[in-house]
This record gives sequence, structure tokens and C-alpha cells, in this order.
Amino acid sequence: MSVEPAALPDFCRNYDDYQQLLQHQCQILEVPEPDQNAIQASFQLAQRVAELIHFNGKLPFAQFMHEALYHPGLGYYSGGSHKLGAGGDFVTAAEISPMFGQTLAKSLQQAWKNTEPCVLELGAGSGKLMCDILQQCESDGALPEAYYILEVSAELRQRQQQLLNDKLPHLKPLVIWLERLPQSFQGVIIGNEVIDAIPVELLMQTEEALTQGFVTHDKNGFKLEFEATSFSQGWRKKHADICQSWPEGYLAETYDLRRDWLKSLIGCLKQGCIVLVDYGYEEDELYSPYRPQGTLQCYYRQKKHSMPLALLGLQDITSSVNFTQLAQAALDHDAQVLGFTTQSQFLTLSGIEQFVAQSQDSDTMSSLSVAQQLQTLLMPNEMGQNIKVLGLSKGFSGALSGFTSLGLNQA
Ligand SMILES: C[S@@+](CC[C@H](N)C(=O)[O-])C[C@H]1O[C@@H](n2cnc3c(N)ncnc32)[C@H](O)[C@@H]1O
Repeated sequence: MSVEPAALPDFCRNYDDYQQLLQHQCQILEVPEPDQNAIQASFQLAQRVAELIHFNGKLPFAQFMHEALYHPGLGYYSGGSHKLGAGGDFVTAAEISPMFGQTLAKSLQQAWKNTEPCVLELGAGSGKLMCDILQQCESDGALPEAYYILEVSAELRQRQQQLLNDKLPHLKPLVIWLERLPQSFQGVIIGNEVIDAIPVELLMQTEEALTQGFVTHDKNGFKLEFEATSFSQGWRKKHADICQSWPEGYLAETYDLRRDWLKSLIGCLKQGCIVLVDYGYEEDELYSPYRPQGTLQCYYRQKKHSMPLALLGLQDITSSVNFTQLAQAALDHDAQVLGFTTQSQFLTLSGIEQFVAQSQDSDTMSSLSVAQQLQTLLMPNEMGQNIKVLGLSKGFSGALSGFTSLGLNQA
């Protein structure tokens, strides 16, 4: 179904208007302007989003976020923009240091004593984590039987294949790219900084009611409006305690699509473990009075900001993970919680120190010294405390290094 152009706002009908809008957003954010190809792709996506708004009146924020990140061929992850590394938008632990993947490799090898020696990596980015894990496993004489990757970005998939070809061509037969989750998987599923991109809804407490964020537009571009909405009885019951204490103007996110995502992940795991590493909190800390603006963040060329409606399809949009909800969802779907801890503790207990000497001798591809890499991975004010690790399992009787105890307050 297509829309008469006259029904769309000027900025979606006229390319020059749209270019000016993007230029204005770049001035506010103090970032370089995108090139013409990127502007053209963003313009097309803006037209698709405006059509959806035309048909629906308004878009729940999660639907807007889904379009911005995953619209086929035009969304941030499904389109062609350069996301990771130099000139990209964000830097992950795997990009910072090979010690991250090397330590994770040891943890995987421990898990393989009690499950199939296979890996399924979700969202493999530049492919760096996969190469570091495989290289470490090879030098330990413990290569997996297969290393599967589920990657939504065609650009990143190509970079992963190129990196594997350049660094470990002899291991190419081990690595298999999947189009969707397998029906039945045995082994260890890993995901580093993947869940934070799964769309969230936005909430705001007003004087009268709890309201939900919707995206509409006016002549100046897309805009966010908060409206009272009919939250389901189940949702109200579950969240009544939490929302009650929110002062007027308090902003937060809800994460139900992530719970559904985890449910499908557990559904495909026949036996083994899941290790999820991401920025996030337990629920009481996530919705604390000290976090009145929520956790939604955008990244464009390594600049962090809070304008999710800007640079449509050209920037990453993320928000922290509600680990309590994920752990609860796991327990609700026949999985167990192996542990929950900070990245710092996980890497330390898994023996990261054994890789320090090795890294000092080798070409790490990182621009940081080994001491700086360790500091970024482990220090509380850097990734050490802000990134958490959740270990889940199904039909698995072994342990996974990195966890001392369950570590969660509520699940
Ligand atoms: C922030 S990057 C992390 C990359 C990598 N894991 C690392 O540690 O460097 C997010 C990755 O997840 C992928 N991704 C985003 N949404 C996804 C989804 N719903 N399913 C699978 N992969 C996804 C992206 O294309 C990208 O490869």
C-alpha cells in the first residue's frame, strides 16, 4: 500500500529539505555530516516511517526503533553504514583487547566438558571476537566442532568473512553463518553487546498518569509525544510497585521484546549454556530514583547522545539491559540461571591475567597498551562494572567459570 506524496510531510517529499534537516541535526550534535549515499538511504527510510505514521496515526517508540535499526536494506544494522572500529560508531570489549575473547575461550572450553563443543555467536560485529576465541582454542588444542554466527547486518557479515579469511583461513570450514536461529542447538550461545539494540518502549510519568512514547511528525521532522495508554492488566500488576515511586517527569524504558527474544533463544537451545554480556542492571537499580532520564543512548561516529529520532538509520540506538527480567524469563521457560556478575569479576575469575604476558609479546591490533586494555575491560568506572554477564543453562549439569554464585537479587 503506498501513500500519495501529498500526504507526507515536506521533509519526506523534498530531498533538499531532508538534507537540511540532517545538517541541522549534525550541527546540534557537533558531528560530521553523512555522505550523499547515507543521506539518500536515510531519506528513503524517513519516507517509509512517515508512511507508517500516516497509516497508524502514530508509531509506538519500539516500532520506530525497529525501523531505524532493522528496516530491510535501510535500517542501521541492515543497511551499509560503517559501524565498528576506526570511523565507526562504537567500540566493544572485543575490539579493545584480544584478552576478552581469549578469556571467554577458556570459559567455553570448561562448558564443553558438559555439552557439545559448538558455539553460536549472536551479532559477531567485526568478527574480532570469533577470531580471538578460535585462535585461543586452537592453541589450547580445543577447537570447537562448529562455530555458528547469526548476524543481521550484511556489511558486518562480509567483514567477519574477510577477517576470518585474512587471519585464520585454515579455520574457514569451521565457521557457518546462519540466516535464523537453528531449530535445535547444543553447545554454548554467546552474545556480546547484542541485546541492547533490541527495541524498547519509552515511558514517562506525568502528573496525571503513566504515559507511553509515540513517534509522530510535524513540519520540522519526527517528534516524540507521550500519551496515556492502556497498559495491560498483567503489565500494571507486575510493574505497579516500580512505577508508583516514579516522580513526575521520570523517564524509563520497558523491555518486553527482549523477553520474547530470550524466549526464542531458549527455545532453540536443546542443551547447553547461554552467556550474555551487556551494559545493564538488575531491575531495582535500573529503575532507581537516581536514573530519572532512563538509559536510552545513541551512537554516531563514537559520539554518545540522546537524540533517538535524529540521523534516522545512520546511528545506533541502544538502552541498558534489564537482567532481572531476562533471568526471570529464563526461569519461566525451563532454563536455569548459572550466574550473574560484572564483566570485571567474570574476566578475573575466568583467568584474564594469564593472557597479559602473551598480549605484551604479540601484535594485538589494538591501539591501546596492554595496561590500558586491562583498565578499560576491568575498572569499575569503565566497562568493568557497567557491563554485566548473565549465564543461563538448559539440561546442563556443569559449571561455567566467572561466576561465584547466582548473584541476582530477585529472579
Ligand atoms: C554492538 S555490536 C557487537 C559486536 C560484537 N559482538 C562485539 O563484541 O564486538 C552488535 C552486533 O549485533 C548485531 N545485531 C544487532 N541486532 C541483532 C539481532 N537482533 N540479532 C542478531 N544480531 C544482531 C549487529 O549487527 C552487530 O554485529
